[in-house]
Amino acid sequence: EALLDLAMKMPKAELHLHIEGTFEPEQMFAIAQRNQVALKYNSVEELKEAYQFENLQDFLDLYYQGMSVLLKEQDFYDLTMAYLKRVHEDNVVHVEIFFDPQGHLSRGISFETQIKGIYGALKDAERDLGITFKLIMSFLRHLDEASAFETLELAKPYLEWIDGVGLDSSEVGHPPVKFENVFRECKALGLPVTAHAGEEGPPEYVWQALDVIGVDRIDHGNRALEDEDLIATIKHKGLTLTVCPLSNLKLCVVDTLEDHPIRTMLRYGLNATVNSDDPAYFGGYMNDNFAALVKDTGISKDELYALACNAFEGSWLDSKSKQQHL
Ligand code: ADE
Ligand code: ZN
Repeated sequence: EALLDLAMKMPKAELHLHIEGTFEPEQMFAIAQRNQVALKYNSVEELKEAYQFENLQDFLDLYYQGMSVLLKEQDFYDLTMAYLKRVHEDNVVHVEIFFDPQGHLSRGISFETQIKGIYGALKDAERDLGITFKLIMSFLRHLDEASAFETLELAKPYLEWIDGVGLDSSEVGHPPVKFENVFRECKALGLPVTAHAGEEGPPEYVWQALDVIGVDRIDHGNRALEDEDLIATIKHKGLTLTVCPLSNLKLCVVDTLEDHPIRTMLRYGLNATVNSDDPAYFGGYMNDNFAALVKDTGISKDELYALACNAFEGSWLDSKSKQQHL
């Protein structure tokens, strides 16, 4: 089909991707073995069978277990390089990826080990595959603000490698306002900021992301559509929404892809983009997400173009680099 072919071949930017969520079971077992650590599952098949989630927390429980086999700089390098090689096949030419330093610090893995591995792979893939990148440090919102502040201190020697700050993990019960002070300091340091908001949490959390944190974009944003004033405000500010169709399906944010709000977002004039979130867990990388939209929604060629352009426009590339993609 021509539409599918177009979607696959378009140059794309991915703005919402957790590098720990690209950990494929095969690679997880291989790294567990070389690090001599045990996994709770006996085989790749057994692990894959556990990938059935009723909500975000079900997934997060597995996600934190999975990342616990990452111990060495080489592990972080290999994880990141595998993702970059994979999305190169999907014609992804720019990535802005999250990592969760607290998910590793809590296990005794230094900030330096993490970031050197991830950044090393990003630099090598930029040279060898031509993929440009931004690296976003994300705070875990189920932890307290003091922990986020400690993480920010550890990040300070590496700010040259860090292009922005995010907020992720369990949303409900952990509103953006909990992190008001630490994001104020991040912004004072000149870092762009984004936050997961309105994935499971109510429109009020999206309002807080805007008004309390002052986000430069919104990750997910699905539930913003429940509030007309919020829609108008997001549109007026020109904020980008990093939407994740297959993630929303797997985490039961939507019942079916036909019900997915991404086309409604475009119709409202919102800058929606397509992203894979945690592709190893949610059944697909960038092109799988586009293919699913082509197959299950009535998406048009113009909408596909709009989604792809929105990603370059909403990226944190400088305006000259953006123009080269548009
Ligand atoms: N961490 C990794 N993926 C996430 C998601 N979709 N929502 C919140 N936190 C996450
Ligand atoms: Zn996410």
